[in-house]
Amino acid sequence: MTGPIVILTGAGISAESGLGTFRDKDGLWTRYPLEDVATPEGFARNPALVHAFYNARRANAAGAKPNAAHHALARLQREHTAGVVIVTQNVDGLHEAAGAEAIHMHGELSRALCATCEARWDAPLVMSPTGRCPECGKAATRPDIVWFGEFPYHMERIWEELRKADLFVAIGTSGNVYPAAAFVQDASRAGAETLELNLEASAVISDFDDARFGPASEIVPAWVEEILGK
Ligand code: APR
Repeated sequence: MTGPIVILTGAGISAESGLGTFRDKDGLWTRYPLEDVATPEGFARNPALVHAFYNARRANAAGAKPNAAHHALARLQREHTAGVVIVTQNVDGLHEAAGAEAIHMHGELSRALCATCEARWDAPLVMSPTGRCPECGKAATRPDIVWFGEFPYHMERIWEELRKADLFVAIGTSGNVYPAAAFVQDASRAGAETLELNLEASAVISDFDDARFGPASEIVPAWVEEILGK
């Protein structure tokens, strides 16, 4: 019987829900220079461009539905009594829409942040540089998204969960962005088994004990069936 499981998800788990990924052939970063739309410097240079980018992603995500992989992870979290923690790099709400709880280390499209007083609130569908913070009233609102060069959220909690994990599984992530790409090493050092579920091998595939390849909507439900059947 497997003990506590920590799962890391990336854009690949939401690809079949129509949200696309970042580094695949027609990925987001092939269409937008990430320096302009996913860094604090880009936001300072052109906040209107950054708001337009996230308004488009927010609208896209609002129309998306969880796929069989999200539903399988929600079932695993409900039924695996030793505990399942889902850490996601994704900023969509598809884990929650499937009934799961997830730790959003890169923030959430559905949340807004005040760059002045750090208040947070539910983001409107459309944000703009003239939007005002509901707390301090300053026109300094931004998406509550962790940009490149900023520190991811909830890291102490995540490292604590990795130390306790019996099994670490990475799903649909290319292993290009740290600290998430090093979670497999953190988990291994703590004695966990490690498994990669992906469409193609990630940049850190050699750090994993095992791997299975295919679309998340197929290989994740099959893996969950196996775990719950043990
Ligand atoms: N099923 C499973 N995996 C898939 C599928 C699919 N249908 N489609 C694509 N993938 C895999 C790709 O093979 C790749 O390994 O999903 C991964 C997508 O990689 P990236 O586009 O780099 O996305 P991700 O790893 O989540 O990026 C990490 O980088 O841009 C930043 O903050 C952003 O959270 C993001 C972080």
